[in-house]
Amino acid sequence: MITETPHTLSLQERDALVEEIAARVGVRAERGRRFAELTSLRVGGAIDWVLLPETEEAAAALVHELAEAGIAWRVLGAGSNVLADDDPHRYVVLCMKDVKGAAEFAGERVRVSAGYSLPRLCVDAARRGLAGIEGLGGIPGTVGGALWMNAGAYGHEIGTVVETVRVARGGRVVEVPGSEVKWDYRHTSFQDGELLLGATLCLRPDDSELIRERMEEAKRKRLDSQPHGARSAGCFFKNPPGTGLSTGKMIDEMGMKGTKRGGAVVSPVHANFIVTEGEGARAADALALAEEIRERIRRERGIELEYEVELWRAGGEAVETGRAQSSNEAVNAGQPERVEPSRGETGSAKEGSEPPC
Ligand code: EPU
Repeated sequence: MITETPHTLSLQERDALVEEIAARVGVRAERGRRFAELTSLRVGGAIDWVLLPETEEAAAALVHELAEAGIAWRVLGAGSNVLADDDPHRYVVLCMKDVKGAAEFAGERVRVSAGYSLPRLCVDAARRGLAGIEGLGGIPGTVGGALWMNAGAYGHEIGTVVETVRVARGGRVVEVPGSEVKWDYRHTSFQDGELLLGATLCLRPDDSELIRERMEEAKRKRLDSQPHGARSAGCFFKNPPGTGLSTGKMIDEMGMKGTKRGGAVVSPVHANFIVTEGEGARAADALALAEEIRERIRRERGIELEYEVELWRAGGEAVETGRAQSSNEAVNAGQPERVEPSRGETGSAKEGSEPPC
């Protein structure tokens, strides 16, 4: 979550500090980027700073320095699970896509960094005859994003194969046993302010050909049932936990497939996907459509839908996001002028279109 910045730091002072910290820690710092370029929905406003560490150590040092300086930050992986507001975002975005290195295989284990591509990891594992994540091969996110939200598809969830997770603490890389993390449906016990740097997964030996067949099967199902090549963030809402109900089916039954608000459309292929179209599409269109869906489901089915995508607000109060406390905790609520340390691993691991970050 991003909270109010101590009222002692002006934006100019903050900018000078960001530059100084980036130079000291040795990370690339970019200005003038927009969420529309960095997220798969291709909407969203200007970002004050994008910082791009290349190693786990640099990322850990960076967030420590930012926190010490009282500068708000938020983590972006592949940007495939984020709907960011159209207005300017007055915080630092830590883009993890370059923290990838190589996936290091040793027996049944693989050590991989947060910025590594999840589909690539699934292919690497299949090649080595390692099973347990082949269902995740079509999720166009990073490993870090997958860990943050416990990404899942076609019978696999990443949390089930995590031996240890590396997180940033006190400027260092610290290893946490996977068993200490609560892995729920599209949700984990990782806290705001925790930056995930990588993980060691423990997979299961199996025949490469069989793994590949299962990957193909998942791909086939996905191509049959979900939009591809569209600008989406995967499923927009969670399925109502513990009900066995499918949100996509409910929206479909309300006849909302194809419903259009501005540049946002309920996918005609899968009703739990909101896709954006055209140059003029705005985050506000997608949000308005999403809220209309929620309102109808509330009225007609008595169900309160939880966002699965993370809503990154440019200013003001937190709103519901895919990361929930009771119903939702607004992990990634944006905030206006002044910034304070915080985080929110973005849903980098989301089913949807190709990640552009
Ligand atoms: N259905 C409809 N109309 C629709 C969509 C679905 O009738 O527009 C029906 C399907 O025919 C099926 C049922 O609803 O009978 C369930 O649909 P589906 O198999 O597509 O599963 P889902 O619950 O909608 C979940 C995940 C997907 C994941 C698939 C496969 C959530 C919110 N969604 O979808 O994850 O790919 O299962 O494992 O949990 C994502 O996380 O972004 C995502 C897309």
